[in-house]
Amino acid sequence: MARSFFILYSLSRRRVSDSLRSMFFIPTALALTTSLFILFYISSTSNLFTPHPHRQSRLHFLQNPNVVSSKIHDSQNPIESQPQSGINFDSSSRNLGVLEDRGAGAYVKPLRSSNGKTTVNEIIFHDQDIFAQDYIKMNKSFKIFMYPHNKNDPFANILLPVEFEPEGNYASESFFKKTLNNSHFLTKDPSKADLFYLPFSIARLRHDPRVGIDGIQDFIRDYIYNVSHHYPYWNRTGGADHFYVSCHSIGRVAINKAEEIKLNAIQVVCSSSYFQSAYVPHKDASLPQIWPRVEDDPPHITSSRRKKLAFFAGSINSPVRQKLVETWQNDASISVHGGHLNTSYEEALQDSKFCLHVKGFEVNTARIGDAFYHGCVPVIIANHYDLPFADILNWKSFSIIIATLDIPFLQRILGSLSTDEYTTLHKNVLEVRKHFRWHATPVDYDAFYMVMYELWLRRSSIRVPLS
Ligand SMILES: *[C@@H]1O[C@H](CO)[C@@H](O)[C@H](O)[C@H]1NC(C)=O
Ligand SMILES: *[C@@H]1O[C@H](CO)[C@@H](O)[C@H](O)[C@H]1NC(C)=O
Ligand SMILES: *[C@@H]1O[C@H](CO)[C@@H](O)[C@H](O)[C@H]1NC(C)=O
Ligand SMILES: *[C@@H]1O[C@H](CO)[C@@H](O)[C@H](O)[C@H]1NC(C)=O
Ligand SMILES: *[C@@H]1O[C@H](CO)[C@@H](O)[C@H](O)[C@H]1NC(C)=O
Repeated sequence: MARSFFILYSLSRRRVSDSLRSMFFIPTALALTTSLFILFYISSTSNLFTPHPHRQSRLHFLQNPNVVSSKIHDSQNPIESQPQSGINFDSSSRNLGVLEDRGAGAYVKPLRSSNGKTTVNEIIFHDQDIFAQDYIKMNKSFKIFMYPHNKNDPFANILLPVEFEPEGNYASESFFKKTLNNSHFLTKDPSKADLFYLPFSIARLRHDPRVGIDGIQDFIRDYIYNVSHHYPYWNRTGGADHFYVSCHSIGRVAINKAEEIKLNAIQVVCSSSYFQSAYVPHKDASLPQIWPRVEDDPPHITSSRRKKLAFFAGSINSPVRQKLVETWQNDASISVHGGHLNTSYEEALQDSKFCLHVKGFEVNTARIGDAFYHGCVPVIIANHYDLPFADILNWKSFSIIIATLDIPFLQRILGSLSTDEYTTLHKNVLEVRKHFRWHATPVDYDAFYMVMYELWLRRSSIRVPLS
């Protein structure tokens, strides 16, 4: 430190003749030195930059019934109603003086440890016990009021659940509404409701000739106007206890003329990029984009012996995909296809250890769901993607997340995993895949229940009674 300061100082001395320049140089040099000192101080006193391997104590914690029961007791505390993202929960539990040893290192182990090797987390849930208890409470008490519309409403096609089996890339939106409509979470009594559902379908608005892509923003603005004038509920919270669900990325701009939705309401959307100002992590929630599948599990998903290292197929519609194809198209172990695939997509997913989810127009595609369905470990190359259920599930235990800039190192990163580490990832994929499936009649812990749980975490808001 002192040495670099001296060098900077003597450098600046030499330029004293040029007084104008030194007027800028000396303060800059001093500022630089000061910030170096501050950085040095922080790094030597905090453990921010040096994650400690807490896994040992974490495992101990999970296996020690005494600690677990004290935690069950603590969950009666107000912390239970907080969103349980790792950070939020960690800090609140620390305030309560429990779980002292749950440093960030236990959860957020870096992908590459200090020796440059890729490491894998083993634990799927951020906190399985809390999730299990909260889930039961949620399942018993959570109530939703869906704004009612009847078959004669001119926009019934937009507002009512579809009669048919949801299909296609954006099926998640229809699946949610249809399943909720038939579920025990619905209440007809608004005074019992925790949240209010705005049931417009953005996917269907796109195809309605009366509205079309250009009319969606006006439709949503009018819908909110109607709801806030015909019912007292919107005004009590400015929309904060209201939500809508959309899988099509156009949902992002659909709300541009209804500012209160963007600022206050809960948006459950597939294109959950925290790079976009329209999406607010923690307030909003990520909806998984899942291709609907009614058939049984495909064969061989339990096998971790797979021929290819990694696989991708899709249209090359983004700079990220461009980069991927340029770098890996002629590689023997990483198989990357731009455009139409002549061979079987399903077989490719089942034959690969890793399946690449690469940002296209948006951060989201159905590929994560595809990978899980075929027992393939997803590799997520989509910067700023707020991953589905990330406040419940520890994505580092069943996927590899890499930055776009690291595409050239793809083979090295994936290749550096040991057989044991891959086996762990693969085993965890087989465990989490049930959370990424829709069913005509919902099954506990499936995508529908997981979305309900995400909503439940976001249910509290202050209601101002209207005189
Ligand atoms: C959730 O509620 C449904 C309907 O009451 C019930 O069938 C299911 O068993 C419940 N699940 C759990 C885990 O309590
Ligand atoms: C939605 O729920 C209502 C009332 O329970 C029911 O009559 C209707 O058939 C349901 N719609 C669909 C598409 O399931
Ligand atoms: C709002 O209400 C008006 C009057 O009832 C109706 O004509 C219009 O279609 C409604 N618009 C929306 C988007 O719900
Ligand atoms: C809600 O607030 C708006 C704007 O202040 C007002 O015009 C409307 O009448 C209110 N709605 C109800 C039901 O009071
Ligand atoms: C796929 O098939 C088309 C025509 O059937 C052919 O032109 C093309 O080269 C094939 N692509 C690959 C990758 O085999």
